[in-house]
Amino acid sequence: MGILEGKSILVTGVTHTTSIAYQVARIAQEEGATVVISNFGRAMSLTNRVSKSLDPVPPVIELNVTDQEQLDCLADALRGLGIDRLDGVVHSIAFANPETAMGGKFLSTPWEDVATALEVSAFSLKSLTMACKPLFGDEASVVGLTFDGRVAWPVYDWMGVAKGALESTSRYLARFLGPEGVRCNIVAAGPLDTIAKKAIPGSTTFNDIWDGRAPLGWDTKDAIPTAKAVVALLSDWFPKTTGEMIHVDGGVHAVGY
Ligand SMILES: NC(=O)c1ccc[n+]([C@@H]2O[C@H](COP(=O)([O-])OP(=O)(O)OC[C@H]3O[C@@H](n4cnc5c(N)ncnc54)[C@H](O)[C@@H]3O)[C@@H](O)[C@H]2O)c1
Repeated sequence: MGILEGKSILVTGVTHTTSIAYQVARIAQEEGATVVISNFGRAMSLTNRVSKSLDPVPPVIELNVTDQEQLDCLADALRGLGIDRLDGVVHSIAFANPETAMGGKFLSTPWEDVATALEVSAFSLKSLTMACKPLFGDEASVVGLTFDGRVAWPVYDWMGVAKGALESTSRYLARFLGPEGVRCNIVAAGPLDTIAKKAIPGSTTFNDIWDGRAPLGWDTKDAIPTAKAVVALLSDWFPKTTGEMIHVDGGVHAVGY
């Protein structure tokens, strides 16, 4: 019996087989969960295509986390798929304008682009959680993904600021929703060669930082260790853990140069 047997989980941010969320959806299914995946806009066709490689093929729904109308319809959309109770939701979403907000232009990024990064990548954790809340039972688990926002990385710039905000949002959700049985945790992954990462100008710098520094080693093409941690947090095996950030980075966060 898998650790998610009997649970229903919404996994956002599945675009491609390289997406962290793809591995989360795949492993969650292996562990017995009923999975629904989502994405938005132009990515939908890719999501529909990649859904076919999951077993069973999960329902795909459209959800732009900045669209309040879609957020308001989410619970009904899930009910329409026969999901009357949601046990977990995975926030695997981020965006910042690569031309202006990342890649070393930190000091000149206009507010509108900072605002977009914060809305899509941090505020949306609250929006998504609240949109799912009508379907939560006595217990639910929300898991988000960060690239450790406690420090200032090269080229990450306003996405780094957004990640700091995401991590803080998770702690506030833990505070506000804990009394209703909702746990909210974050997995801090090392660099993974996904579409989102490739869009960051100079992102191979991260691979260089991890090269040789991770005590456990690190493969930028393997999202499975990260996905396993997400699935573990979705399960009943972290019943009293909330507001936490778990590093899945080969140990880089723990060592100096
Ligand atoms: N790749 C890395 O190195 C790395 C490391 C640590 C954390 N993360 C985080 O993991 C998460 C998933 O990213 P990924 O690396 O798997 O890349 P990805 O490109 O596969 O996934 C990002 C997803 O965000 C979705 N998205 C963007 N704007 C959206 C919106 N308005 N509404 C709904 N969905 C939206 C995209 O369509 C895409 O599916 C992100 O939060 C990312 O910051 C990535």
